[in-house]
Amino acid sequence: MKDDGVALLSLSGITKRFGRMEALSGVSMSVERGEVVALIGPNGSGKTTLLNVISGLLFADEGTILFEGKRIDRLPPHSRSRLGVNRTFQMPHPFSGLSVLENVLIAARFGRRRHEDEERLAESILKLTGLSAFADTQSGSLNTGQKKMLDLAKALATGPKLLLVDEIAAGLSHGEMESISKLLGEVARTVEGMIVVEHVMGFIRMVTERVVVLDAGTKIFDGSFSDAVRDEHVREVYIGKGKDP
Ligand SMILES: Nc1ncnc2c1ncn2[C@@H]1O[C@H](COP(=O)(O)OP(=O)(O)OP(=O)(O)O)[C@@H](O)[C@H]1O
Ligand SMILES: [Mg+2]
Repeated sequence: MKDDGVALLSLSGITKRFGRMEALSGVSMSVERGEVVALIGPNGSGKTTLLNVISGLLFADEGTILFEGKRIDRLPPHSRSRLGVNRTFQMPHPFSGLSVLENVLIAARFGRRRHEDEERLAESILKLTGLSAFADTQSGSLNTGQKKMLDLAKALATGPKLLLVDEIAAGLSHGEMESISKLLGEVARTVEGMIVVEHVMGFIRMVTERVVVLDAGTKIFDGSFSDAVRDEHVREVYIGKGKDP
C-alpha cells in the first residue's frame, strides 16, 4: 500500500443537477488510504447520486474528482473500474440467467486482476460473502439479501482499491446487520478505502468512526461519529425527519 501523502479519493466542489433540481451542491470530501468513510443522510439527500458521480455512472456538472492524485471525472465507468474504483448498487441487478459463479467470473475478467487465477479468486470471494453453497444457483432466483451479497462479490472480483457500498444493510435485522458489519470489516482489509452509504446510524456505528453527512445535496458534517450524534445540524436533520441518531 502506497503512502505518498496523496489522498486515495479527493472530491472538490461536486455539483450535479437533474433539470432545475440540484441533487448535489458543491460537495467536497476525501478518503485517505486505509479509511472507511460512512456517507449518511436522509432519503433523497444525494448519497446514491454521489456514488454514481464517483463511479462514473453520472458526470458531475461542476467539480473535480482525483483518484490517487489523478483526475478521473471525465472517464467512463469501465475505465474507473480498471483503475480500481468500483461499487455496489442499492438495487442490485445480476445477470439473472447466469449462475452466481458465472456472474463473479465475468466481473473478475472485467476487472484489474486479469493475471490471477479467476476460478480461485471467484471461489474465495464466494466464501467470504457466504455464497459458496449457491455457486451454481441461477442468480435470478436469489433473495434480495443474497443478491446484495452477489453484488458485493462482483465488485470485489474486479479488485477494487476504492469500494463504494450503497445501502447493503437496508431492511436487515439487528443480528444480520452485525454480521454484515463484520464482513465489511474483513472487506476493508482487502481494499485501500471504502465509502459506505447507509441511513441507519446504529449500523454505521458498527462499521466506522468517520462520518460525512449530506442533507438536500449539501455536506453538513464531516468528522467523527461521536461528534456527529452531538452536532445540532445533524440532529435536526435526523430528528426532524423522524429518525433519532
Ligand atoms: N436520474 C435521476 N433523474 C432525476 N432525478 C434524480 C435522479 N437520480 C436521483 N434523482 C433525485 O436526486 C435526489 C437525490 O437522490 P439520491 O438517490 O441520490 O438520494 P439518496 O440519498 O441516495 O436517497 P435514498 O436514501 O432514498 O437512497 C432526489 O431528489 C432524487 O429524486
Ligand atoms: Mg440512495
